[in-house]
Amino acid sequence: MNNPIQVCWECPSNLALVKYWGKKDGQFPRNPSLSFSLKEARTRTRVTLLPREDCRLIFRFEGRPSPFEGRVGRYLDTLTGEMPWMEAYTFRVESSNTFPHSAGIASSASAFGALALCLADLDRQLTGEGDSPLLRKASQLARKGSGSACRSVYPGFAWWGESSVIPGSSDDYAVALGNQFSARFDTLCDAVLLIDSSEKKTSSSAGHQRMAAHPYQDARVRQANAHAEKLVQRMKAGRYDDFFEVVEQEAFSLHALMMSSSPSFLLLKPNSLRVIEKIKDFRDQTRLPVGLTMDAGPNIHLLYFKENREEIRGFIETELLSLLENGTWLDDGIGDGPVKVE
Ligand code: DP6
Repeated sequence: MNNPIQVCWECPSNLALVKYWGKKDGQFPRNPSLSFSLKEARTRTRVTLLPREDCRLIFRFEGRPSPFEGRVGRYLDTLTGEMPWMEAYTFRVESSNTFPHSAGIASSASAFGALALCLADLDRQLTGEGDSPLLRKASQLARKGSGSACRSVYPGFAWWGESSVIPGSSDDYAVALGNQFSARFDTLCDAVLLIDSSEKKTSSSAGHQRMAAHPYQDARVRQANAHAEKLVQRMKAGRYDDFFEVVEQEAFSLHALMMSSSPSFLLLKPNSLRVIEKIKDFRDQTRLPVGLTMDAGPNIHLLYFKENREEIRGFIETELLSLLENGTWLDDGIGDGPVKVE
């Protein structure tokens, strides 16, 4: 018997500076978003194609059956129309993360990013070149699993959502922003400060849905477009201080949208606010270029540049540790994107 067809990719998670919040049918975004791929927080996924059996998917996460299997199975089903070769196989999908579960890092982005890279690679092996570059195809496939995942398949900064600001941008897939920004942004670091790892009562998907009837929906789309454009200008011009101003307005707007949706929800915890205050005070006192962002959860991402690493580490150790769950934080930063393992 021939060896089974097998591919393995590793893909990072990403952190949005301008947030995707609200979607249209088909998992298209209401507004453009801008993110960077992380270095350390990664998912490794191996896909093995087996002769078709009754069962469509065998999914293992860190060697064990996982509740994520249902979502992965539905995802594969939705892609079969577009890639008919999928019909002929049973998929064995084995996945693992380099970061702990509930560490405040979006695991669906790296998970769907890695799986989509495997599927795009298999599609190319089984059907030939196609007319779209591999990473773009992977981005488009990843989007269908989890919107933010489409930005994870590139190194450095990525943009998702059609806009005149970025030529070639699309709602269908993300594009890499390359090295058009001032060099210091290539040294952006992210200290992921763990505030609370318990399961959220309201998921991101539910939050996206609430934007459909949100009273601030139109204003949010205008705001996100304006923020994305400003960030690109400021990053090109190397304007570090007011870069963080926009990044923080995005994070606070995201949480304000949650609080003002119907039904409303609140994901911040008392220690989220305490840590935010501490970061602002530290910035006022030291005048260092630091800032923060948040995803749809209580954890805080403290952003800074590599040259200030020692001061930031000292600040975390002395001022923040007691406010973090089990004193936990992850040392991450901008990364080089996915790699093909085999
Ligand atoms: C707040 O990509 O997790 O992290 O498309 O429903 O899977 P689905 O949502 P998801 O939403 C991420 C929202 C966010 C902002 C962002 O990453 O842009």
